[in-house]
Amino acid sequence: GRVVVLAGGLSHERDVSLRSGRRVAEALRETGTEVDVRDVDADLLRMLRDEAPDCVLPLLHGETGEDGAVREVLELVGVPYVGSRPSACRAAFDKPVAKAVVARAGLHTPASVALPHETFRELGAAAVMDAIVASIGLPLIVKPARGGSALGCTAVREAAALAGAMVNAFAYGDTALVERFVVGSEVAVPVVDTGTGPRALPVVSIVPDGGVYDYAARYTAGSTEFQVPAKLSDELAAECARVALTAHEVLGLRDLSRSDLIIDAQGTVWFLEVNVAPGLTETSTVPLAVAAAGLDLGDLMADLVRTAVE
Ligand code: DAL
Ligand code: MG
Repeated sequence: GRVVVLAGGLSHERDVSLRSGRRVAEALRETGTEVDVRDVDADLLRMLRDEAPDCVLPLLHGETGEDGAVREVLELVGVPYVGSRPSACRAAFDKPVAKAVVARAGLHTPASVALPHETFRELGAAAVMDAIVASIGLPLIVKPARGGSALGCTAVREAAALAGAMVNAFAYGDTALVERFVVGSEVAVPVVDTGTGPRALPVVSIVPDGGVYDYAARYTAGSTEFQVPAKLSDELAAECARVALTAHEVLGLRDLSRSDLIIDAQGTVWFLEVNVAPGLTETSTVPLAVAAAGLDLGDLMADLVRTAVE
């Protein structure tokens, strides 16, 4: 059948999405699948009606893509699509909400405060800084509550740097998440379900050359070293898989997700976030895990499409 890959969109991760879309479209075509790549704009409804695809693969990152908005439209039109439902996307994409949900399920997630821009303005940078440093301590990481690809994220090692970091996060949205910075090893764990139940793919460990997995380290080939499967004890690898599967399950996700975790020096696995439209670019972690699992990216995507259509 015919598949429409949705890529692009108007979020800050537009370019990333276009790269994910190109790569997946190519991989799918190699399996003999007929694929169109479409951007998302005001013509979405008309395009879906005119093209009447058998299945949609929404590879939109960031707002409208991962927050469930475009998937609401797909539900409205009644076209099958790969991935989580709108309500689950909305919860998962909102980092403070996702953290609260997984914490209730017993997972470790770093202490944090979600701060609306308005509160920050009303209380003033100094008061906010004092309160946050007193309750969480240092170092901290400040992120937009909703967003991806590390855009607007800043590590804060001294109190004086907190205000600037907040302003940076507010450039991407009206709520900032201020989180305890867990020092440790960063890993990504994809979860896939092609109809036989969710399973975790091999753990990918992420070692950016510059020490920080920022936008450039994510999307510049060769600037980050990946180990897949990560060199971990069997126990730790199993714990990472358990955390990713638990997050996938308690947030009600479907088909494909990727949890981003940190393993600290004591071997505690901390949940940072889960992505409902994980990057599938040439430098993204999911394709590495797919290959390490002995799978072909195109075959996996074709299987996800098949499951969605059934
Ligand atoms: N937000 C990017 C696309 C990722 O998580 O891979
Ligand atoms: Mg993310």
